[in-house]
Amino acid sequence: MYRDKIDINIKDLVQAAQNVRERAYAPHSKFLVGAALLAQSGRVFAGCNVENLSFGLTMCAERVCVGSAIAAGEGKLEAVAIVAECREPIVPCGACRQVLAEFNPNLVIYSAAPDGPISEFRLNNLLPLPRQGILE
Ligand code: THU
Repeated sequence: MYRDKIDINIKDLVQAAQNVRERAYAPHSKFLVGAALLAQSGRVFAGCNVENLSFGLTMCAERVCVGSAIAAGEGKLEAVAIVAECREPIVPCGACRQVLAEFNPNLVIYSAAPDGPISEFRLNNLLPLPRQGILE
């Protein structure tokens, strides 16, 4: 179990990220990424990276699934799993860290290569002080 009240285990969340990774649209980088967000309600929202010929318009997998969760009415996010094929565990880019922090600065981040071991991070370690000096 992920937590007592939430009926999903970490392996299932990572598997959801691995599954959606197969839908990644990454013809430019060939770097396929899948992400699965666990919302406080217990629902899971999946997303993959969506690249564009105008490279700067590319959307990361993490931000794609944040959009789905928020559009579905979720308020707080508990954890995200990210799957990509790379030597070091994948961690969200700086922009995605800031977007994720909007909904939970202490988000738990699970990271794995396909069928590989799972690493765990905390967003507050990857992005300290996400609100300091902004709009106040
Ligand atoms: N990418 C993600 O989707 N998530 C990450 O955490 C890192 C990078 C995507 C963006 C782009 O499509 C490709 O991976 C290469 O950077």
